Amino acid sequence: MGSFKALQTRESADGKFETSVVDREIESLPAGEVLIRVHFSSLNYKDALSASGNRGVTRAFPHTPGIDAAGTVAESSAPEFAEGDEVVITGYDLGMNTSGGFGQYIRVPAAWVIKRPAGLTLRDAMVLGTAGLTAALCVDKLEQAGLEPGDDPILVTGATGGVGSIAVALLASLGYNVAAVTGKPDQAAFLTSLGARQIVERSALQAGVEKPILREQWAGAVDTVGGDILFNVVKSLKRGASVACCGLTAGTGFQANVLPFILRGVNLLGVDSVEIPLITKASMWDKLSLQWKLANLDALVQEITLQELPQAIERILAGKQVGRVLVRLD
Ligand SMILES: NC(=O)c1ccc[n+]([C@@H]2O[C@H](COP(=O)([O-])OP(=O)(O)OC[C@H]3O[C@@H](n4cnc5c(N)ncnc54)[C@H](OP(=O)(O)O)[C@@H]3O)[C@@H](O)[C@H]2O)c1
Repeated sequence: MGSFKALQTRESADGKFETSVVDREIESLPAGEVLIRVHFSSLNYKDALSASGNRGVTRAFPHTPGIDAAGTVAESSAPEFAEGDEVVITGYDLGMNTSGGFGQYIRVPAAWVIKRPAGLTLRDAMVLGTAGLTAALCVDKLEQAGLEPGDDPILVTGATGGVGSIAVALLASLGYNVAAVTGKPDQAAFLTSLGARQIVERSALQAGVEKPILREQWAGAVDTVGGDILFNVVKSLKRGASVACCGLTAGTGFQANVLPFILRGVNLLGVDSVEIPLITKASMWDKLSLQWKLANLDALVQEITLQELPQAIERILAGKQVGRVLVRLD
């Protein structure tokens, strides 16, 4: 049927992982109802974990990572998709143990596939990608818990990262007063351009871990980092406020005590964008393409090729990511 270009991570005999662009055969793709010619993918932190051999993400190598893909249907045995349909796939097992979007072709179950939302191009969909979907789910959960635009600041941690930068842009566009936490003070102008009204140095959020409770400050928060920062965010939420917890770049563990919960009635809301029902993903994509459509997507994206991905993977692993990385699969 033909070959295609793909990024591939291999494990060498000494247990090291190497990633490079290779030619693969379409026949080598897993079984599935829909074969898709991928035009765009995007880089998420989880892809970097897969490409560095993290067994919690990918068990078997060689493997093509890429948890996001947008492209056109090349073949379909599912009645709901026809050749030429433009589609978007994020999460489920794509790029984890199923060959992912860092290849020009993927083959997946129809149950993972969404038709491109009318208000977004395939490129827009991948500028957003899993990061955008996750940021939207965080904002949606916060609003369901009662958050409304107002003057009190909403905190976004890991603000220059993929999820963080879109959360900043989305909250700001919805009229929230966004305080952006970053370990990259040199990126203050970037965050301000996305709509942040206040820049908070990461070190300020790392202080006070030993204290049982902190001064009430935040009307809500999107936390993309976890660890001690999440503990401090919980302790500094205003009465009745919520934090949406979606990430782990600062650590998977975090301390807790009951005081913020029983003295201030705060809420810790978990957010998963990977395994939620397709219908929930589709409704978030519709929101992102209509009432939550972001005008400034180009301000937060860097476009790269497959060949440039290994370097970008190193950068995101080192916590140096700024905004989103769009991968063009020519
Ligand atoms: N729950 C879900 O379904 C879901 C979906 C997508 C992503 N995620 C998770 O969300 C997190 C963010 O993903 P992403 O793709 O946006 O990654 P990313 O682009 O690398 O963003 C992470 C940001 O976190 C900050 N950071 C990095 N290392 C840190 C450290 N040691 N301590 C504190 N902050 C640190 C950095 O921002 P600053 O320099 O600005 O602080 C970095 O840019 C990841 O943990 C990812 O696995 C979860």
